Amino acid sequence: MDKPRGFLESEFERLVATRDDVAADGNVVPFPDSPRPEPTLRERERRFHSLLNALPAAVYTTDTDGHVNYYNDAAAELWGSRPPLGKLAWCGSPRLLWPDGTPLPHDQSPMAIAVKENRAVRGFEGCTERPDGTCVPWLAYPTPLHDEAGQLVGAVNMLVDITERKRIEEQQSLMVRELHHRVKNTLATVQAIMGSTARSSETIEDFKTALIARIGSLARTHRLLTDDGPTVSFGDILKNELDAFDDGSEGRITLTGPDVLLSSQLAVSLGMAVHELTTNAAKFGALSIYGGKVDVTWNVAIEKSRRTLTFDWVESSGPAVSEPARHGFGSRLLDFVLPGQIQAKATVDYAREGVRIHCVVPLPAEPEADSADDTGCPPR
Ligand SMILES: Nc1ncnc2c1ncn2[C@@H]1O[C@H](COP(=O)(O)OP(=O)(O)OP(=O)(O)O)[C@@H](O)[C@H]1O
Ligand SMILES: [Mg+2]
Repeated sequence: MDKPRGFLESEFERLVATRDDVAADGNVVPFPDSPRPEPTLRERERRFHSLLNALPAAVYTTDTDGHVNYYNDAAAELWGSRPPLGKLAWCGSPRLLWPDGTPLPHDQSPMAIAVKENRAVRGFEGCTERPDGTCVPWLAYPTPLHDEAGQLVGAVNMLVDITERKRIEEQQSLMVRELHHRVKNTLATVQAIMGSTARSSETIEDFKTALIARIGSLARTHRLLTDDGPTVSFGDILKNELDAFDDGSEGRITLTGPDVLLSSQLAVSLGMAVHELTTNAAKFGALSIYGGKVDVTWNVAIEKSRRTLTFDWVESSGPAVSEPARHGFGSRLLDFVLPGQIQAKATVDYAREGVRIHCVVPLPAEPEADSADDTGCPPR
C-alpha cells in the first residue's frame, strides 16, 4: 500500500522548526532543554502519523486538484477501503450520497467546495457508500491549507461518523409516529366505548359505572404499554384485570401459558376483551360468589410463517349458567370488535357449570432475520 504522505507533514515540520519562536504563555508549554539528540525527520514523521492515526475522527488531505494525498486509519475505516493515493479526487470513497440517498458528485463535495472557493466548510452532511454496500453518514469539516506565502496548497478534511446520532433520531421519530397513532386510536376507542355503553345501559348510574370501569381498564393497558415498552405480555394483561378478584381461596384464578408479547393494537383490543370477560364473571359468573374459579390457559401455535395465539377462559364452581336472554357490550366486543380490529374469532359456550370461551388470535409473523435492511443506507 502507498505510504500516506502529504503537505501536512511539511506543515508539521514547519511548526517544529519554528517552535522556538513560540512564546511560552497560557496553554503553550515549551519543550524542556534536553540533552537528548533531536529526533530524525523519519522519526518525526512516524510520530506525526501515529498522532493522526490515534484520532478517532477520519482525517485526509488533498492537493488543489483534489487528489487525496494523505488519510489516517479512521478515514480508511469510514470509507471501508484503503485507496491508492493520488488516484481518487476529493474523497477516498468512490461513492458519495446526499442525506436523502441521491448521488453526491465528488466535485460538489464539501472538500471540493473548500478548495475551489478557498473557504472552510462546517458541518456539511452526507454519506459514504462502502464497497460492501453499507452506508456511513457523516458531517464534514474541510479547511483550506496555505503555504507560508499564503498560497492555497490544498485542504484538510475531518469526517465525523454520525451513525449513532442518526439511529437515535430515527428511533425518536418512530416513537412520535407511534404516539400519534395511539392517541388517534385511543380517542376512536373511547368514542366507540361510550356509544356502546350508552346503548346497553338502562340508567345513567349504570352508564357511569360501566364507562368508568372500561376507560380505567384501557388506561391500565396503556400504562403497561408505557412502562414495558412497545409490547405487553398476554399474561400481564390477564393479571392486570384478574388480580383484584383473587381472594386467596384455592384455585380462584389460575393462569397458565407461555410468555407472549403483544403489539399495542393487540394489547388494547385483548385488554378490552379480558376486561369484559372479567366484569361478566364478576357480575354473573364464577367471580360473583366465594369459591368460584376462573382458569385461563393459552398457547402459541407456529405453522410455517403464521403464528396464532389461542386462549381458553373456563369458569367453574360458580352459579348455574343458562343461555342469556340479552346481549350487551361484552357480546358485541367478542362478536364484532375483535374480528374487525384484530381478526380474532371468539366462541362462547354458556355451559351450565360455567361459561367457556375459546378465542383464536392471529399474531404477526416473527420478523425474518435476513429481511431487514441493515445497510444503514438512506432510501433512494
Ligand atoms: N360469565 C358469565 N356467567 C354467566 N352468565 C354470563 C356470563 N357472561 C355473560 N353472561 C350472560 O350473558 C349476557 C350477555 O353478556 P354481555 O356482556 O354481552 O352483556 P351484559 O354484561 O349484560 O352488559 P354489558 O356487557 O353491556 O355491560 C349477560 O347479561 C349474562 O346474562
Ligand atoms: Mg358484559
